Amino acid sequence: MSISIKQTLHFIDSPEEFLADIAVQNTMLLIDENVLKLHGKHVEGFNSITIPSGESQKRMEVVEYIIAALLDAGIDRNGTLIGIGGGVVTDLAGFVASVYLRGINFGFFPTTLLAMCDASIGGKNGINFGAFKNMVGTITQPNFIAFYPAFLSTLPNREFNSGMAEVIKHAVINGGELQKFLQGNERTALLGNPEKLKALCQLAAEVKVTVVEKDEREAGLRKRLNLGHTIGHAIEALNDLTAPVGFLQARAESKANTSVTSKKTHGECVAIGMVLAARIAVRKGLAKEQLVEEIIAYCNAYDLPIKTEIKPELLMEKILKDKKRKSAEIDFIMPHSFGDVRIMSLELKELENHLKEMANE
Ligand SMILES: NC(=O)c1ccc[n+]([C@@H]2O[C@H](COP(=O)([O-])OP(=O)(O)OC[C@H]3O[C@@H](n4cnc5c(N)ncnc54)[C@H](O)[C@@H]3O)[C@@H](O)[C@H]2O)c1
Repeated sequence: MSISIKQTLHFIDSPEEFLADIAVQNTMLLIDENVLKLHGKHVEGFNSITIPSGESQKRMEVVEYIIAALLDAGIDRNGTLIGIGGGVVTDLAGFVASVYLRGINFGFFPTTLLAMCDASIGGKNGINFGAFKNMVGTITQPNFIAFYPAFLSTLPNREFNSGMAEVIKHAVINGGELQKFLQGNERTALLGNPEKLKALCQLAAEVKVTVVEKDEREAGLRKRLNLGHTIGHAIEALNDLTAPVGFLQARAESKANTSVTSKKTHGECVAIGMVLAARIAVRKGLAKEQLVEEIIAYCNAYDLPIKTEIKPELLMEKILKDKKRKSAEIDFIMPHSFGDVRIMSLELKELENHLKEMANE
């Protein structure tokens, strides 16, 4: 790594000022259409590709659409692609930029709490394949990540809460300052308070950066960031978030504003996965019941779900396709206590038994 990840992070006061040094003619923005409507004034004058919002955009057909638009605009090897949106946009922009012309410069303006505290950081740029999460991707670090907390002023409550799921995950993994901050700042203290939100993003980003700088390629330590994701990703896939729909269909749905709110967001799925992981740790005698209670209390504070009605057999079908599976076992991230989260090889059969038994409790 030539430049430290920490050096790519910028907390900014004005997107316009930050963009002032970037060559407009060889730059393309990839922007979520909701974000364009709400915050497009900050990026006027740049070429842009707009995509509808939603997880279903993270797929190959959309990658091809973006590449065609980059070619059309004549973006060359010295060009820059800037993703402006939530985790869907940052994942897509990072993926396209790291494969287009074998890699061009790229940067992000994350606009959701989840993207500011997690998705935009660390260089994982993935798209889904059918209903399977993040099956295709690269690990390439962006040239910059520009945090402008004022973007969060328009974020719907549910999306704010969804971002808090990844923040809570970081607090479970790391304990420390972030956990103290959460204890001292209730939801009402954070909402609408840009200074506190900035502090929250800084602390959460710090947790992720510290881990990724030690283990960029996920040989060991970084796997801990997947806490809650084995079960969470299975739930997400089954909630049909990733089911392929035509690009044009998604655009039409988005125009008609018919987004299906019964679908779980990424953060909601992570919250459920984290609680179930903690319950499994208690069942195995690795954690105290208090851990589950504390995680649930944080989830309740942000209206996050803590259980799923999905049948264990269905979850297992998806878990079998998980990247972390190794024949009959899976690298499972087991929380022992706040600040003590370990990687454990867990037999799939045992995981299935836990899920079945917990479904009946
Ligand atoms: N690469 C990584 O390391 C990593 C880590 C965590 C999550 N992710 C990925 O991130 C994605 C989830 O990201 P997300 O939760 O940001 O979802 P998202 O990108 O779908 O955004 C959520 C919603 O918020 C809207 N939105 C965005 N910014 C807004 C703003 N400022 N005001 C109002 N509305 C706004 C969007 O239009 C969308 O409807 C998932 O695909 C997940 O896999 C990636």
